[in-house]
Amino acid sequence: MKSPLRILLLEDDAHDAELVRELLEADHLACEVVRAQTRAEFLGALESGGIDLILADYQLPSFDGLSALKLALSERPDVPFIFVSGTLGEEVAIEALKIGATDYVLKTRLSRLVPSVQRALREARDRAERKNAEEALRRSEMYLAEAQRVSRTGSFGWNFSSGEIYWSEETYRIFECEPTIKPTVQLVIDRAHPDDRMHLRQIIDRAATERREFAAEHRLMMDNGSVKHVRIVAHPSTEGDPEGVVFVGAVIDITERKRAEEERERLLELEADLARMNRVSMMGELAASLAHEIKQPMAAAAINADACTRWLRSEPPGVAEAREAAAAVAAAVMRAAAIIDRVSSLYRRGAPERELVDVNEIIRGLTVLLGDRANRSSISIRAELTPGLPRTTADRVQLQQVLMNLMLNGIEAMQDTGGELTVASKRSEDGQLLISVSDLGHGISIDEAKRIFEAFFTTKPKGTGMGLSICRRIISSHGGSIWASPNTGRGATFQFTLPPT
Ligand SMILES: Nc1ncnc2c1ncn2[C@@H]1O[C@H](COP(=O)(O)OP(=O)(O)O)[C@@H](O)[C@H]1O
Ligand SMILES: [Mg+2]
Repeated sequence: MKSPLRILLLEDDAHDAELVRELLEADHLACEVVRAQTRAEFLGALESGGIDLILADYQLPSFDGLSALKLALSERPDVPFIFVSGTLGEEVAIEALKIGATDYVLKTRLSRLVPSVQRALREARDRAERKNAEEALRRSEMYLAEAQRVSRTGSFGWNFSSGEIYWSEETYRIFECEPTIKPTVQLVIDRAHPDDRMHLRQIIDRAATERREFAAEHRLMMDNGSVKHVRIVAHPSTEGDPEGVVFVGAVIDITERKRAEEERERLLELEADLARMNRVSMMGELAASLAHEIKQPMAAAAINADACTRWLRSEPPGVAEAREAAAAVAAAVMRAAAIIDRVSSLYRRGAPERELVDVNEIIRGLTVLLGDRANRSSISIRAELTPGLPRTTADRVQLQQVLMNLMLNGIEAMQDTGGELTVASKRSEDGQLLISVSDLGHGISIDEAKRIFEAFFTTKPKGTGMGLSICRRIISSHGGSIWASPNTGRGATFQFTLPPT
C-alpha cells in the first residue's frame, strides 16, 4: 500500500481546511493533512520534512501566502506549492507563478483542486525521477572518468559518416592535448612517433575501409620530446548512431608497463652476466686447486719416467724395473686426467641438462677440489654423507655451482680464523634429499638472514652478492628450497632440499 500523501495546509479557516480535506478524500487520495496557521507552525512543518505537497491560502491573519511560498522555495524547493485562495487577483497569481508556485486554485472553483494536485504530484515525481537519473548518470560518469584515470585508459568514438571524433578526458590527457582542441585522424597521426606514423596510418586506413575491429601498439612523441607507448583497441558499433558506423575504442597508456618490462629484461641480463662472472671467479679458484692437484701426479710421472729411462740405459737393462716405472707413469697420468675430467665438467656451458645425479658424488668431488683452497686458510673440510641415498634429477653443473657457492661462502666466513667446514647429506623426515653446509665462521645475524638471498646483498668488499641468489634460483628451479640459519655455537648452516627420484 502506498503511504498516504502528506499535505501541508496553510489555512486559518477551519471550515475551508475541512472542505479541502473532504475534496481530496472524495477522490480517493489517501492523505494526511498537517495544518499550519502561523509562520512558526508552517516553518516547523517544513523543517520536520516528509511533506509531499503544500496548499496555501493567500491571506492569513498573521502570515501571508507569498512569504510562505518564498520560505518553502528556500527550504523545500522540490515540494509543489499550490495557492488555494478566495482573494487571489490575476496579477498576484501571475506574480506567484513567476516566483515559483506550481499552480493556483480559487476557492470559488474548488473542482479544479484535485486535478491540479494530481498534476503537481505527477510533475514532482517526474522531476524527482529525472533528477535521480541525472544524478546516477553524473555519478557513473564520474566513476568512469576516475577509472579511466587510474587505469590510464582513455576512450574514443569515431563516426565514419560525419568524420567526427570524440575523446574522453583521459584520452586528451594521454595525447597531452588541450580539451578545446577538436580531435582528428591527422592529429592522432601527428602525435605518433615519426617512425610509427606510416604503420599507424595503414592500420587506420584499413580499419576505415574494412570497418573491422583492430588493435595496435605504437609510440607517441610528446611536445617535450618524451616518448609514450600506447595500445589502441577499437571495434565498429552501431550504437549511438543508427545511421552510420562508429568506431568505439580505448587508448591505453602502457608506457610504465613497457618500462617495467625493459627493466626486468635488463635485470635478467645483468643477473645472467653476474651468474657467468660468478662461475668465472669460481673457475679461478678451481684453476688454482687444479694446478696444485695436478702437480703431484705430474711430479710422480716425471720421476718415474726418469727412472724408466735410467733402467733402460743400464747394462744390462733392468727391463722389469723399467716396465714397473712405465706403469707408474701411466697411473700418475691417469690420475691427473681424472682430476682434469672432474674439473672440466664444471666448465661445460650451454642449456641446462637434466640427468640422474648422485649428490654424494658431487660433494665428494668438490671436497677434493676445494681442499687446497681450504687448507690455505687452515680450514678442513669434512663430509658426512649418508650412503645409499636416492639420486635426483638435476643439472649437474648447476648443482655443483650451488654447492661450490655455499662451500666458498663458508670458507670465506672462516678466512681469518680457520675452522671446519662440514658438508652433510641425508634424507629429511618428509623424504626429501637434505644437504647442509655448516661453518664455524662469523655467522649471520637474524637481520642478515632475511636478506642474504637477495641479489646484490653482500657484506664483502669484493663480493657480488649474487652467489646465494643464484643458489636459490637453481634450487627452486629443481623443485627444492634453500634456507640459512645461525648455529647455536659459532657460524652458520645453509641447507637445501632436492626431490629424490
Ligand atoms: N657462511 C656464511 N656465513 C656468514 N655470512 C654468510 C655466509 N654465506 C653468506 N653470507 C652472507 O651473505 C652475503 C651474500 O652472500 P653471496 O650471495 O654468496 O654473495 P657474496 O659472497 O658475493 O657476498 C655475504 O656477503 C655474507 O654477508
Ligand atoms: Mg658468495
